Amino acid sequence: MKIGIVGSGYVGLVTGVCFTLKDHEVILVDVVKEKVDAINKGISPIYEPGLDEILKEALERNILRATTSYEEMMKEADVVFIAVPTPSKPDGSMDVRFIEAVAKQIVETLNKMEPRNLVFVMKSTVLPGTTENIFKALILAGIRDEWKGKISFTMNPEFLREGMAVEDFLNPDRVVIGADNDYGREVLVKIYRDFVDNEKILIVPIKVAELIKYASNAFLSMKISFANEIGNLAKSLGIDVYEVMEGVGMDKRIGRAFLNAGLGFGGSCFPKDVSALLNFGRSLGHEMKLLEATLEVNKKQPSKLVDLALKRYRSLEGKEVVVLGLAFKPNTDDVRESRALELIKELLEKGVAKVHAYDPKAIDNAKTVLDDERIIYHNSLESALGSADIVFIATEWQDFADESLYEGKEVFDGRKVIKGEKAKYYEGICW
Ligand code: UGA
Repeated sequence: MKIGIVGSGYVGLVTGVCFTLKDHEVILVDVVKEKVDAINKGISPIYEPGLDEILKEALERNILRATTSYEEMMKEADVVFIAVPTPSKPDGSMDVRFIEAVAKQIVETLNKMEPRNLVFVMKSTVLPGTTENIFKALILAGIRDEWKGKISFTMNPEFLREGMAVEDFLNPDRVVIGADNDYGREVLVKIYRDFVDNEKILIVPIKVAELIKYASNAFLSMKISFANEIGNLAKSLGIDVYEVMEGVGMDKRIGRAFLNAGLGFGGSCFPKDVSALLNFGRSLGHEMKLLEATLEVNKKQPSKLVDLALKRYRSLEGKEVVVLGLAFKPNTDDVRESRALELIKELLEKGVAKVHAYDPKAIDNAKTVLDDERIIYHNSLESALGSADIVFIATEWQDFADESLYEGKEVFDGRKVIKGEKAKYYEGICW
């Protein structure tokens, strides 16, 4: 099949590149020329384990290319996936301007083409109703009558984790397909049947597919905040919450995953999606108390770690500290909504004179969002650790797990990276 993908960011690129593994021909469209050029040269604009190799092979086989032209893509594609961002507005609600812009481009392109069967697939995370009431409505309102009846609209949410995206794409727990007609549904089932067994394909109405994505991210976020809430209680009782969650997670109905207590969740998805769902629910008259509490617990976690240090030193005024980890989780350079950055802000607010920060991958990104003369970014772990004796661990990079790094140090661990066996003093956030 010929597959078009609008948006060659993280989701679009991984999806498109992985489709080539089953010999589909993929054409990626992006408005950013540099990204298009890089992809065509075999340079992935994002880092994902395994992605570069598949991209290079697809280019060599001549079954993948990127372009800035909708026309070039749509004159060939049988199916068009939409994978553009749906960021938050300042009030936390979802911003649909990219979806609207794509719909406009599609209308202009369709009106220059002869009608034929075409399937649109919404891959972006969008609130229930968006695919039909905004995307489909805009397209149907703008196109020539001959096109009507030829176009199918579907929704197929992604469940890829950063750093594991290729693996998650190739071994998904489920593939959710929402469709407004049989043709669209069958085309998508045909594509995904090459990747998963039938039992893993769930066919639902479009709105249900949209809500499955939000409910999944909200539930995982809630699990983390739950572990943190119990963790804060456990800490005050002198209990290690990881021992508690081991016992809790052995119950199959609960499961152990996403019960790792610590500084909380960050990244480009959980905080944004929970806020958008909260806002959406409220706009329909629902209180959404669990979502509200999930965000509230998450917001306060970094200050819990700072409080532990305040308890020990009474004041942090004028002190120099080390912060290890800036990325929102290990194995990525992404600092969006990273709890590590919130921790640094909190430390500076408490009067810390200097923060010596280090991360194996995320320093450049951190610099662009956290520029303060009191923050010194170090190029090596040794240099950061050599600069001060009070150490905060904010991201669970494997590089930080060596106990001997912390000899003579006073460590406040936000991610249970070490046991603190060699440290002069050790305190965990929820253990
Ligand atoms: C998340 C979901 O896991 C994916 O299924 C989803 O497709 C994706 O969002 C998305 O909507 O695009 P991701 O943001 O890459 O993926 O990261 P996760 O691995 O889920 O971690 C999110 C945050 O939760 C990280 O800050 C991590 O440190 C934190 N976390 C995770 C915990 O604090 N405790 C845990 O037990 C697990």
